[in-house]
Amino acid sequence: MDAISQLQEYRLEIENANFENLTDLEDFRIKFLGSKNILKPLFSQIKNIAPEHRKDFGQQINAVKGLAEDKYQSLLKTLSSKEIKDSFSNLDLTRPGTTEALGSQHPVSIVMQRIIDIFSRIGFSIASNREIEDEWHNFTALNTPENHPARDMTDTYYLKNDWTRMLRSQTSTVQVHVMENQNPPIRIISPGRVYRNETVSSRSHCQFHQVEGLYIDKDVSFVDLKNTLLYFAKEMYGNDVKIRLRPSYFPFTEPSAEMDVYWGLETEADYRITKGTGWLEIMGCGMVDPNVLRNCGIDPDEYSGFAFGMGIERQAMRMFGITDIRMFFENDVRFLNQFRSVNI
Ligand code: DAH
Repeated sequence: MDAISQLQEYRLEIENANFENLTDLEDFRIKFLGSKNILKPLFSQIKNIAPEHRKDFGQQINAVKGLAEDKYQSLLKTLSSKEIKDSFSNLDLTRPGTTEALGSQHPVSIVMQRIIDIFSRIGFSIASNREIEDEWHNFTALNTPENHPARDMTDTYYLKNDWTRMLRSQTSTVQVHVMENQNPPIRIISPGRVYRNETVSSRSHCQFHQVEGLYIDKDVSFVDLKNTLLYFAKEMYGNDVKIRLRPSYFPFTEPSAEMDVYWGLETEADYRITKGTGWLEIMGCGMVDPNVLRNCGIDPDEYSGFAFGMGIERQAMRMFGITDIRMFFENDVRFLNQFRSVNI
């Protein structure tokens, strides 16, 4: 067969080409468009063509190549979308899907978030500050005497070789930062982590979390404090919650109190956790001592206020029935996974 008829035959083959699948199409591509395609040898036959037809023949080979290229592209388009459609036609849309494993909120975060929500609803905003503190913010401004036992190194973690700096032992430090930088009225809560040199046991740990509260304005009274805390307790533990305020002492409040919520005395764990009283202490509170206001640049003759500081772990233990505080810090996924379905 001469080269011209051969080319004609290829042209017909390309024009009629049609395939069912991408594998056959790939064979077509290799045959007509691959690096060793069958059109190539035709170029070497140009010398056998009459000189006046050579140019025309060369152009024809290129035209057939172009035809193969177009055919390949259009078949590729049709076959690819057909294969995608085929793969979907086997789908069982009623089959249950596989779910991604979701992380969970840490129980401490869950409780903290609830407390934040409760106080945000009555206009408290969030303040936070550093965990490495100086004596002024952790003790002195908070009216804590020079010889107070809390300053002792057995309670507070001081930095190595620097007795003026320490890990904060209470979130009350944030009260000082806020009052130093903000004019009343002030209404903040401050969730955060604190550190104390305590022996680690099922009931106490050297790190834990607190939420601090501070309210400074004109004519704030103890009644405001009590009503705010009662509102909090009802939102947190339900309308029939019972609370009590016991007189107490803190250097930065006068008068001071501790608030207990009634836990119950039904089980042995209730006895253990409440030391046989049925009441669980959850926070310290009181009217901000005038000395503290003065230390932070607020005139106690013009303003008064209340403050409170509550422990988080103890409330989380109550809420979720956890009996060992160490579990919060071990990050054992078997423990953490149990909080997956808890809605905040
Ligand atoms: N800072 C105290 C503690 O860690 C708790 C506390 C008591 C905070 C009374 C207060 C307060 O703001 O008014 O034990």
